[in-house]
Amino acid sequence: MAAGLMMTASLVVPASAQKFEGIADTPPMGWNSWNHFACNIDEDLIKQTADAMVESGMKDAGYVYVNIDDCWHGERDEDGFIQPHPERFPSGMKALADYVHEKGLKIGIYSDAGKTTCGGKPGSQGHEYQDALQYARWGIDYLKYDWCATGTGDAQRNPIEAYTTMRDALYAAGRPIVFSICEWGDNKPWEWGADIGHLWRTTGDIINCWDCEVGHGNWSSWGVMNILDQQDGLRVHAGPGHWNDPDMMEVGNLATPAEDRAHFTMWAMLAAPLIVGTDIRDMPAALQETLTNKEVIAVDQDALGVQGYAYKKTGNYEIWIKPLADGEWAMTFLNRSDSAQTITMDFAEDWTDAQTQHTAKFSEATYTLRDLWKHQDVGTTAKPFRRKVPPHDVVMVRLSK
Ligand code: GLA
Repeated sequence: MAAGLMMTASLVVPASAQKFEGIADTPPMGWNSWNHFACNIDEDLIKQTADAMVESGMKDAGYVYVNIDDCWHGERDEDGFIQPHPERFPSGMKALADYVHEKGLKIGIYSDAGKTTCGGKPGSQGHEYQDALQYARWGIDYLKYDWCATGTGDAQRNPIEAYTTMRDALYAAGRPIVFSICEWGDNKPWEWGADIGHLWRTTGDIINCWDCEVGHGNWSSWGVMNILDQQDGLRVHAGPGHWNDPDMMEVGNLATPAEDRAHFTMWAMLAAPLIVGTDIRDMPAALQETLTNKEVIAVDQDALGVQGYAYKKTGNYEIWIKPLADGEWAMTFLNRSDSAQTITMDFAEDWTDAQTQHTAKFSEATYTLRDLWKHQDVGTTAKPFRRKVPPHDVVMVRLSK
């Protein structure tokens, strides 16, 4: 009997369980339904979004994942296997995944470590291996795993246990699936997430404003600048295969094209997952240009995989820098304020990234400056670089030798 128990225990935690490696060496890029559509989703929307991802040039620019967030669920069948909502996804998830795969894209889904999802649909607690198996059978490539209904106080699930269980279940199911930890930064996932998932949310939910907090009783949604500020101190934890996730973007949902551009730029400076959260069917030209700016995307996707940081902060503006592969750098002037700001970088002192020891020695080498939104070379580091930046906007340059 004792031997039988031990055998059971060893089956529960296979020594070989791990996360899938090599599937998020650069921050994941794609789309997610939640920010714009919330629970108002169905298979036509997902198909049309996959079509749009190809036709708009987004696929060509590097976007891969079409991710279905909360509310795709129907009931569990008599054996406990989760089924999609019969009216919203009448063709079933396998057919939808096949459609997305035929476009050369990948498909993501959403579940929750608790009894129910945040939208009150069936969660995965107690069904982890069965759900992972179902996702693998359907051909799912990405799982966002939320933290609602996981209990409170002493009765709350242990997050490391909960996320490890799903990691192991995904691994046992055998299909490589990007695993997105979404517990809003509550339990410092940057300290334990790297062995478990490929990205972890660092904050509560984003909302489509530049600078605001919207309270919902015991939690808040945060504007883009608020989320940016909450990334302080976290860059040391990110790198290839394990990224800080400052949440899915509100690019396309903000008040002006400048705000959209600035938000997109800052997520690239953060080496953040670029998960688009707007309606990409029939996009305005300005939005399409923003989302498909390959020079900005290259900063996000840079092979070095180092998150950028604020070199200088004043109340009104910030200067951010990010070391890139091959000794190159990105630099962004961010105007947070409501009036135009003239911002200057004089390159009088060398840059040293205290975390990685990457340096830019302006005393020894001259770099060319390329404006990544104008797609123009705009000078060198031999002279100060000065720009008048409109309110809620950015200037972003790449430094190359
Ligand atoms: C939580 C997550 C959001 C979204 C919703 C869905 O709030 O943080 O990103 O997935 O749940 O209900």
